[in-house]
Amino acid sequence: MTATEQPASERQRMEDFDQFLSETNTDAEASIRIVEDNADAIFTWDYAKGKRPALEKLYEKAKKSQWNGSDLDWDTDVDLEKVAREVNGNDARAQYVSQLMASDGSPVAHWGDKEWGQYSIESFAWRLAQFMHGEQGALLATAKIVETVPWIDAKYYASTQVMDEARHVEVFARYLDEKVPVDYPVNHHLQALLDDIIADSRWDITYLGMQIMVEGLALAAFGSMHKNTQEPLLKKLLRYVMSDEARHVAFGVLTLQEVYEDFTQAEIRERQEFAFEAALRMRDRFLQQEVWEQMGADVRQVAPRLFASPDNQEFQHLLFTKIVPNCKKLGLLDAGDGWLRERFGEIGVIQYENWVDTSEEYNAFAIADELASA
Ligand SMILES: [Fe+2]
Ligand SMILES: [Fe+2]
Repeated sequence: MTATEQPASERQRMEDFDQFLSETNTDAEASIRIVEDNADAIFTWDYAKGKRPALEKLYEKAKKSQWNGSDLDWDTDVDLEKVAREVNGNDARAQYVSQLMASDGSPVAHWGDKEWGQYSIESFAWRLAQFMHGEQGALLATAKIVETVPWIDAKYYASTQVMDEARHVEVFARYLDEKVPVDYPVNHHLQALLDDIIADSRWDITYLGMQIMVEGLALAAFGSMHKNTQEPLLKKLLRYVMSDEARHVAFGVLTLQEVYEDFTQAEIRERQEFAFEAALRMRDRFLQQEVWEQMGADVRQVAPRLFASPDNQEFQHLLFTKIVPNCKKLGLLDAGDGWLRERFGEIGVIQYENWVDTSEEYNAFAIADELASA
């Protein structure tokens, strides 16, 4: 395919590429980050619990599903290189990197088994670190939702999510601290997305950005690492986190469905555009740029090959398995002449529209019975 035959969205993608690679985290040494949150805190005097039965059910479920991160078996011996190789060895994107090692003239053609082991560790540590930073974003976003949502059932539910997210930050931070002594600061593009979600004055945008887009992607990413590892502590930790996350996405879907019913076409279009922009940012920008720098490889040479690789495309598409059906459930796919349907079609992920959405799927992840019998 020549450049002129490329779809406009693909050309734009490559043009954007140089720009976003040049944007990096410049305050990695700072100990705090301040983001304006621009929103009104809302009291409600309507305390009638259960006006929204689906939210009430979710709240009751959440109260019974609390687990204690301290109870995980932290004495488990973790062989870092073994678990990192195991996770990488089963990962579609990493498999493509191993093919590049065998390809003459590629930026990693000189890599041998030692470099592959080191790359696996760096990549594993990077992913866990971004999980941890993203979880802190979820903690702050949900605390904001407690303040800004006007319904008591939603405030109750969101407060359980604040506790869930604190626990998630805690367990990822502890796993990194005790088992994976490799530090990565937050990726600039992840931070920028979290900043946008937290800074927006419209309360439903915090929901859409965090509960549907970021949580939807996280659920798919956790699921992939959970499937690819046999390390018992990490596997259990991820399964417990996923059982909470599935509830969180359900919370977003149940709330926004009601809110969007009353929105104008123009308001819905803004939400469609926000959702699509967030999807592109998550697809293209989370390139593990810092890992390539650490490994001494030029990400500008590696990334275009990654973009073109079918394995990598499969990896990226899988990240949308939750986002697309949930957007459909919210009515965002087809509103306004199907604008978002067309966009998801262009980037090759519309085939997930009929996959199970997360408004009910959380039951499949439930661990309450297991907790009760422990
Ligand atoms: Fe979380
Ligand atoms: Fe969450």
